[in-house]
Amino acid sequence: MRIAVPAETDKSEPRVAATPETVKKFKALGAEVAVQAGAGLTSGFSDQDYASAGAGVGANAKAVLADADVVLRVRRPTPEEIAGAKSGAAVVAILDPFGAGPALAGLAKAGATAFAMELMPRITRAQTMDVLSSQANIAGYRAVLDAAAEYNRAIPMMMTAAGTVPAAKIFIMGVGVAGLQAIATARRLGGIVSATDVRPATKEQVESLGAKFVAVENEEFKQAETSGGYAKEMSAEYLAAQAALVASHIAKQDIVITTALIPGRPAPKLISADMVRSMRAGSVIIDLAAERGGNCELTKPGATVVEGGVKIVGALNLAGRLAATASSLYAKNLLAFVETLISKDTKALAINWDDELVKATCLTRDGVVDPRFQAKT
Ligand code: NAI
Repeated sequence: MRIAVPAETDKSEPRVAATPETVKKFKALGAEVAVQAGAGLTSGFSDQDYASAGAGVGANAKAVLADADVVLRVRRPTPEEIAGAKSGAAVVAILDPFGAGPALAGLAKAGATAFAMELMPRITRAQTMDVLSSQANIAGYRAVLDAAAEYNRAIPMMMTAAGTVPAAKIFIMGVGVAGLQAIATARRLGGIVSATDVRPATKEQVESLGAKFVAVENEEFKQAETSGGYAKEMSAEYLAAQAALVASHIAKQDIVITTALIPGRPAPKLISADMVRSMRAGSVIIDLAAERGGNCELTKPGATVVEGGVKIVGALNLAGRLAATASSLYAKNLLAFVETLISKDTKALAINWDDELVKATCLTRDGVVDPRFQAKT
């Protein structure tokens, strides 16, 4: 059984799908691993590190993909980028499947059995495979550090002979995995932290981290969580009431970090241009939802916009900004999942099509795209 780790082709992606540590573990499971030369460099892993762990290092993608049973990637590959792998090879990556019907059709046609790691059910058995959590946690941490770097004042209160510096007020919007880590990091830096979310369960979590909870707690709020633990898309009435509450709160904040997402939907717009203008010059907004359209009306994905002296950072791939840590966790997520696809007896790929993890994540099989993600004609 051969596992291929081609280099990421998107130059803005510094993460890598396997580390020397996971290579060793795959070898122990009886697999051969081939890593493309240079694939780990932007995450701090040299070709020598991979070779020492037992991987074969191939000069190019073609060399590592030849005859592969499993292809590990961070981002969705194109059919050309998996050319040479066996027909039916398992391609395991963050497939970004919403609205990606044609790209998935290409993978299906190329014979890939593609697994979308971000669709992993959030059940106890699959916690070690949860890439959304492993990467969002890092993004939440990094967002606060970036905000601190962009902010032109101190975060903690400082009492000095020359006078007292007040603590920064930091507001976190969306308290999922990224938001919780952002709250914890902002607290560690000495900020005065508040947070909002539409799921009632978050109130206690926010308060247990020593932050203040700010939300419209009406009947709709009490019903706002799906059985899967995600937020529902809220009604226009709720969003208006939330906006009114948030407007008066935001005007007093120095740093706002937004992380609000609804699976498969555009990010909810929570900060209007007027709210931005109500903040004092020098304030900073880091929009972690930029990739999905942004939580702030003025966000430009991948760019920093300055409006009335307020910086709005359209942060992309913040986990990638801590590439070594992000890759080591992502690679472990992949290892935990791929291990379930390998037979302990034959040491060959043996996918259990009845496994709920396989059912939830497998998007292409035998040339066909899962109906959930087929392109609409
Ligand atoms: P996410 O990335 O989908 O969304 C981030 C946050 O935005 C969520 O907390 C959501 O409620 C919030 N949000 C959505 N619309 C909003 C609005 N209009 N205003 C304010 N906030 C809004 O969330 P993530 O990080 O994927 O977590 C989702 C849930 O999954 C959480 O309950 C989390 O605790 C749970 N989870 C469970 C795991 C497990 O059981 N294995 C592992 C990781 C997370």
